[in-house]
Amino acid sequence: MTSNLYGNPHSASRPSKLAGHRVDAIREKALRFFNADPQDWDLVFTANASASMKLVIECMRDAASTTNTPLWVGHHKDAHTSLVGMRELAKTHRCFDNDSQVEKWIESGGRGGPRSRELGLFAYPGQSNMTGRRLPLSWSGRIRRQLHRCEIYTLLDAAALASTGHIDLSDESTAPDFVALSFYKIFGYPDLGALIVRKKSSHILESRRYFGGGTVDMVVAVGDTWHAKKEGALHNRLEDGTVPFHNIFALDHAINVHKRLYGPEPMKFISRHSGKLAKKVYSSLSSLRHANGLPIAIIYKDSAAVYGNSVLQGATIAFNFRRADGSTIGYEEVEKLADEHNIYVRSGSLCNPGGVATYLSWNPSEMRAAYANGHRCSHPVQTMAGKATGVVRVSLGGMSTARDVQTFLDFVKQYYVNDDAGIPLPIQYQAAREEPSPKSTETTLSSVPEQASALSSNQELAKASAPQAHVFERQKSVKKPSINTSPKVLKRSSLVYPPSPPQSPELSSDEMPQYLRHMAPPPGTHLSSANSIGRSKRTIIRNSVAGLLRRT
Ligand SMILES: Cc1ncc(COP(=O)(O)O)c(C=O)c1O
Repeated sequence: MTSNLYGNPHSASRPSKLAGHRVDAIREKALRFFNADPQDWDLVFTANASASMKLVIECMRDAASTTNTPLWVGHHKDAHTSLVGMRELAKTHRCFDNDSQVEKWIESGGRGGPRSRELGLFAYPGQSNMTGRRLPLSWSGRIRRQLHRCEIYTLLDAAALASTGHIDLSDESTAPDFVALSFYKIFGYPDLGALIVRKKSSHILESRRYFGGGTVDMVVAVGDTWHAKKEGALHNRLEDGTVPFHNIFALDHAINVHKRLYGPEPMKFISRHSGKLAKKVYSSLSSLRHANGLPIAIIYKDSAAVYGNSVLQGATIAFNFRRADGSTIGYEEVEKLADEHNIYVRSGSLCNPGGVATYLSWNPSEMRAAYANGHRCSHPVQTMAGKATGVVRVSLGGMSTARDVQTFLDFVKQYYVNDDAGIPLPIQYQAAREEPSPKSTETTLSSVPEQASALSSNQELAKASAPQAHVFERQKSVKKPSINTSPKVLKRSSLVYPPSPPQSPELSSDEMPQYLRHMAPPPGTHLSSANSIGRSKRTIIRNSVAGLLRRT
């Protein structure tokens, strides 16, 4: 950017042509990052993963209305809000409550899905953005092979999976028809999304009615209404207006830097590395107990997921802490206290309505009652009638280190483990004490006693949402610092603070790329100070850590 002049790629000037060629080359490079052969796949640049999903459903709605065919949308309950919203454009929809419902549906040849003469879309996340569990990638291929009742497509929401998972689209016959993702979640920068489209399925996106500057070759606007869409590759007809070409150039650098940092197969390295760290967090949190024996963390984990197995589980841990008396500590309090220690976790309902409903045991009427009583995703009431309305989530990535993990665990021990043995174990947990097992710290649905309590009325919820005892009050009886809390130490060792060379004892020397050792940021570097692509590659490297700070 300092040595070239780039123009809007739609124009014919040399700077514009230069930009256009570069955009095309980077499009291909991005496809190859996912082992997607450009012969078989196209990539449409979008604003983010949500925009990619919205584009698919809008195209399919238009295709359905053009042929007067009812549109059906099916989604898995672990879906992110942006995926669930697709249902609103469909005539009928189904939420699959668990994997076995999906399996049965596929095995039955599609019974319980779209009927013949309907148009269908089955969409699901590759990884839950709440628990980090990874869903079967085989579903798309099996749906293509086994469901012949109607025309049906599959969409993989890879937004969470792509951040630490290796996505391989080399076999297009078994791959999803559409893959939605966000590049900043992989590289930290740039803020750019993509819809990757299997060319054999692209015709269904061609019926989109809207056009904008850049996606048409001719428009008659006065005296008649006629237009001709652009020809050539699909992306020519779907990328309205000016593509964010500067961001696309940044993607080129991001891919290069990623390879320099993590080696020739960066996502495989990141998957292995972050998976090991997540396993450590998970096993440590599972085993932490108050002095009275009560596990401190309720960890929300799919029963089939196994930390350390990258097919089944990503580098994310969702949990709530509880006090020695069994009461739940508000997730926002945990996030706030962690933040004060430069440890950045995410808390809340995480835009995952199905996950919150199932793991935290909220039925639809309770959720409506909670809303009526003032609970909002953006302004949450953290617990109602003893039940948490959200979780704390730790996400690890390529830049996370074993030291980061240790800092977090020390923080947890310092503030959340109560070593006062005089506090009796709450009665409802006594069975768990007699038979201690790691499972006693996990929950899928109603395995946690306080979560089993159903809320029957709005009044009950209103009462229940009275302010809870603040965690700091409880800390009076909690043991005191065992970690070095000096700002200097904390700043350098936080979970997601810009890269320090990995100190992971779990990485063998051949696994640890040499170049990481040179990447320690200057003291005092802060994420917000490194937000321009106009700066050095090193800036991008620093930015890539922001991929760990997923906000939605
Ligand atoms: C699984 C999943 N889907 C969709 C999204 C939304 O992505 P974006 O913010 O890029 O639109 C997220 C965000 O983190 C996510 O984790």
